Amino acid sequence: MGDLQGKKILLGVSGSIAAYKAVYLLRELQKSGAEVRVIMTRHATEFVTALTFEAISHHAVHSEITSQQSWNNHIEAGLWADLYIIAPATANIIAKMNAGLADDMVSACYLAARCPIMIAPAMDVDMWHHQATQHNVKSLMTRGVEVLPVGYGSLASGLIGAGRMIEPLEILDLVKNKLSAASSILAGKTIMVTAGPTYEAIDPVRFIGNASTGKMGIAIADALVAVGAHVTLILGPSSLLPTHASIQVIRVRTADEMLQACIKVHATAQICIFTAAVADYKPKQTAKEKIKKTNNSLDIHLVKTPDIAFELGLKKKKNQMHIGFALESTSGENYAKEKLKKKNFDMVVLNSLNDPGAGFAADTNKTTFFFKNNKSLKFELKSKSAVAQDILQSIVTLLNDK
Ligand code: C5P
Repeated sequence: MGDLQGKKILLGVSGSIAAYKAVYLLRELQKSGAEVRVIMTRHATEFVTALTFEAISHHAVHSEITSQQSWNNHIEAGLWADLYIIAPATANIIAKMNAGLADDMVSACYLAARCPIMIAPAMDVDMWHHQATQHNVKSLMTRGVEVLPVGYGSLASGLIGAGRMIEPLEILDLVKNKLSAASSILAGKTIMVTAGPTYEAIDPVRFIGNASTGKMGIAIADALVAVGAHVTLILGPSSLLPTHASIQVIRVRTADEMLQACIKVHATAQICIFTAAVADYKPKQTAKEKIKKTNNSLDIHLVKTPDIAFELGLKKKKNQMHIGFALESTSGENYAKEKLKKKNFDMVVLNSLNDPGAGFAADTNKTTFFFKNNKSLKFELKSKSAVAQDILQSIVTLLNDK
């Protein structure tokens, strides 16, 4: 049995062609050990019958609050659940939830539930991008509803774009995160993550930078917010953004700007994760005008940028946790251990430049974690989101050991 043993999950199904995928989701949730009850909107029953869900869940499936002179207890269903997930969630049910309508079981249970709520949107590309839907989604997020990302691809309409419901196995992973031990310990924690490169200007158009994309830090921020943490991401110049809209993103360009933003956020952060590949040097002076290529050579005088992790390591309080990264081409282990001490980190994530598939821009990473008690953990090459999960697990262990 899986990690959802003993968990009670209420699955709301609304009227999208993706309703058939909810049958697979139900099976996967059950295979992981959860007890699942299903409720459906009237429209959903036009795509898949209630009988299908009844046969698999071994419970009656209701759409209406009253049926055959009896009352289907939406209050009881809402209170019973450890998690209420609506998958697929159409534009219509999302709008009803935002408005607080309660004319069927799926919408009424949203108002009655006291447990965490997740929705997996499913609709056509234009409906998804419509201002009305985006407004409703953001509004639900501010009320604490976890809105899962949408997939991109061919849609039932024949159009191609964003709006597909993500796959049942992806939803299963997100449900497991939500109900995990990480969630119970990290929910509500304030966490700062730095990510991406910094650009240090030579003149108005040129800069010193590096190939960091911010992928690793963004994956960490996404994983943390999925378990209920309050995350502020201080992001250098990157074309990528986190999936979760509830992450507070502060955009910066230079190491100095990143330091200023970090000082403010650090004051109230319980955990700080320094993923950014901050430039180590910046031009002593930035030319006001674009430098002309009249000379055969050009000397640029470089000076050190602030070491953000080091500076904040000096201010670190007893109840704060700092995690750093090290990207090395040689003697990785020694440098990682040195940084652990010098920058006052509780843990350092070493990724080696010599490992194929690890480091900047790649979707994968191969890491070793080093801790203050001389222990280390070595991992195989895996996706950056799986590395983010390993980091979460180590944070949980460190918090439990405190
Ligand atoms: O010294 P090095 O750059 O290898 O240290 C890497 C760690 O320190 C990373 O966690 C990185 O985010 C952080 N760092 C920083 N400010 C700098 C340089 C590195 O916060 N100027």
